[in-house]
Amino acid sequence: MRVCDSFAHGFCSKFCYGTGMCGIVGYAGARPALNIVLDGLRRLEYRGYDSAGVAIVLSGDTDDGDAAGRRRPGELLTAKRAGKLANLEKALAEEGAHGLRVGATGIGHTRWATHGGPTDRNAHPHRSFDGRVAVIHNGIIENFAKLRAELEHDGIEFASDTDTECAAHLLARALQDAAGATPGEKLAEAMRIVSRRLEGAFTLLAVDVEAPGVVVGARRNSPLVVGRGEGENYLASDVSAFIEHTREAVELGQDQVVLISPTDIVITDFHGNPVEGKPFHITWDASAAEKSGYEYFMLKEIAEQPHAVAETLLGRLNETGDLMLDEVRLTDQDLRDVDKVFIVACGTAYHAGMVAKYAIEHWTRIPCEVELASEFRYRDPVLDRSTLVVAISQSGETMDTLMALRHAKEQKARVLAICNTNGSTIPRESDAVLYTHAGPEIAVASTKAFLTQLVACYLVGLHLAQVRGVKYADEVAAIIAQLQEMPEKIEQVLSMMAPIRELARDLAEAKSVLFIGRHVSYPVALEGALKLKELAYMHAEGFAAGELKHGPIALIDEGTPVICVVPSPRGRGVLHDKVVSNIQEVRARGARTIVIAEEGDVAVKPYADHLFYVPITPTLLAPLVTTVPLQVLACEIASARGHDVDQPRNLAKSVTVE
Ligand code: M6R
Repeated sequence: MRVCDSFAHGFCSKFCYGTGMCGIVGYAGARPALNIVLDGLRRLEYRGYDSAGVAIVLSGDTDDGDAAGRRRPGELLTAKRAGKLANLEKALAEEGAHGLRVGATGIGHTRWATHGGPTDRNAHPHRSFDGRVAVIHNGIIENFAKLRAELEHDGIEFASDTDTECAAHLLARALQDAAGATPGEKLAEAMRIVSRRLEGAFTLLAVDVEAPGVVVGARRNSPLVVGRGEGENYLASDVSAFIEHTREAVELGQDQVVLISPTDIVITDFHGNPVEGKPFHITWDASAAEKSGYEYFMLKEIAEQPHAVAETLLGRLNETGDLMLDEVRLTDQDLRDVDKVFIVACGTAYHAGMVAKYAIEHWTRIPCEVELASEFRYRDPVLDRSTLVVAISQSGETMDTLMALRHAKEQKARVLAICNTNGSTIPRESDAVLYTHAGPEIAVASTKAFLTQLVACYLVGLHLAQVRGVKYADEVAAIIAQLQEMPEKIEQVLSMMAPIRELARDLAEAKSVLFIGRHVSYPVALEGALKLKELAYMHAEGFAAGELKHGPIALIDEGTPVICVVPSPRGRGVLHDKVVSNIQEVRARGARTIVIAEEGDVAVKPYADHLFYVPITPTLLAPLVTTVPLQVLACEIASARGHDVDQPRNLAKSVTVE
C-alpha cells in the first residue's frame, strides 16, 4: 500500500487549534466516494466554512485512478484548503482529482475554527505520522496538550496546530497492536482505545489505507448519525448530508464507536460492548435542502414559513381534544406537579422562549423564567423534581443548551425539548419532546425554525394548562383554531413585502438601527436586531420600548432608524398606547420611525415615517406575523450590502462548543 498527501501543508507551531462546529461526512460503498463526500459537504457547509477537506481511500480496482490515470489503487488521497468548499473543489479540479472514477471510501470535513486563524495546515483531515490513517474531527479535545507532549516526547512531529492531529497519531499507534479479525475491526478497536484516552467533546471519523471499504466513527458530546443505504452506508453530522441517497437513519448514543462498510453498520460502546442503534425514518424531503430557484436559502426558508407552521400544528389534537406531544416519557401527574418552568435556549431560540414566557404564564399561571442556556448552570439555579425545564433548539446539538439540560437533569428537574432535528442529542436526552416540523434549515440565520418554535411553545403552554385543568378542552381548541389561521396570515404578510424591500435599499447605509417593542413585541424587537447584526454586520439593538428613556434614547440622532413593533390596539390597548407614546418620544428626537402595526391601527399613522400593516392577530400570537417583515428587511439589507446571506461571516449554524 502506498500513501500520498497531495495537498499537505505541514508546518508546526506551538499553538493548538480546536475545531468547533463542523460538518462531517463519511461514505462506504461502491460509488465514487469523492463526489458523494463533496455533495455531502455542500449540504453541511452551513455548519462551518472556514476550511474544507477530504480523504479518500482508493479502492483496489485496476482502473482506479483519475481520468489521466495518475493515481493508483490502495492510495490514501487527502486534500484540504482554507476557506469555503469552493476553494477545495478548485484545488481538486486543478489536480485532476475531480475525474476520479472510483474510490469507494471517503471522509470529508467542513470546519468552523474555535481558536486562531483558519489555515490550510489546520484544515482537516489530519494524517498520522506514518501516513496510514486520516482523521476528521468536530469538537475540542481538552487534554490535547498532554497528549501532544507525550507524542512529541516519543519523537512524533506535528504537521498542524490542531488537537485533532493527536487523535490521528494515537490511532496509528493503537493500530499497531489492535486486536481484530479484519483490518476494519482493528481500526474500530484502535478507535475505542483512543476514544477512552480523549477528554472533551468529539466526533471523529477515520479511514485507514489498510482497511479500504471501512469508515470508523466515534462520538462523545458531538453529533453523528448513520445513514443506511442499499449496498452503501453513510456517517454525517446531520441527515441533510445523505437524504438524497437514503431516508433510513440510525441514532448513535454517547460514547459509542461505529464501523460502516458497504454492507454493515456495527456499533459498540467505548469498551467494545455491542450496542443497538435506534433506527429512524427521515421525513424531510431531499428537495427541502435545495435552493429551488431562490437566490438564497434564507429567502426560501422565509417563504416556507406558512407551510412549516401548518406542519408543526398538524395532528396535535387527539379524538378527545387532548393535545399530543411527540415523545413523552413523563406522566400527566408529573406535569400536574410542575410548580415552575425554566426555558433555556440561545440566540433566536431564546427569543422564542421569551415569547413563550408570556403565553405559558398567562395560560397556566405557573411562574416561568427564560434563561440564556450559556448562563443557566453557572448561576446555580434552584431546581427540583417539580421544575420543568424547556430546552429549545433547532439543531438539537447546541452545546450551551445541552449542558443546561444536563445540569437540570442532575438536579432532578424534568426536561422537555422543542427541537427541529430528529436523532439529535437534546431530544434524546430529554423526558419529553415536541418536534417542530420546519424541515431542514440551511441558512445560518434562523427564520422558519423561529416561527415553528413559537408554535411549539404555544402548544406546550396549552398542553400544560389542559393537563393541569386550568383550561378546558374547548378553550384549548379555540386557541388551536386561532393558531390554525396563522399560516394564511403569514402568507398575507409575505405577499406585502415589496415596500420592505424598497426600504431595505434605503437603510443599507445606516450606521445603526434600533428596534423597540413591548410585551411579546419586545422579543420580536430583539430578534429583528439579531437578524440585522448577523446578516448585515450593522449595529442594531432591540429594546423594551419603556426602557428607552432610562438611557438608550441618548443613541437617537437626526435620522436614526427606529423600528417600532406596535401591539394590537384591541385587547391590551394600554400596551398599544404606551408604545405609541414611545414612538412620539423617539420621533421628537429626530428618529426616522418605521412602524409595524396591526391593520386598521390609525392611531400610529401620524407618527410613522414608514408604516407596514400586518393582519389582525390575537396578542400572544402576534410575533408569528410581526417577525416576518424584520426577517425580510435584514435579508434584503445584507444582500444590498453584498454579503453572503446564507453564510454570514464568523458564524456557524450549529454551535457545538460552549
Ligand atoms: O440550533 P439552536 O436553535 O440551538 O441554535 C441557537 C442559536 O445558535 C441560533 O438561533 C442563532 O442565534 C441563529 N443564527 C440566529 O439566527
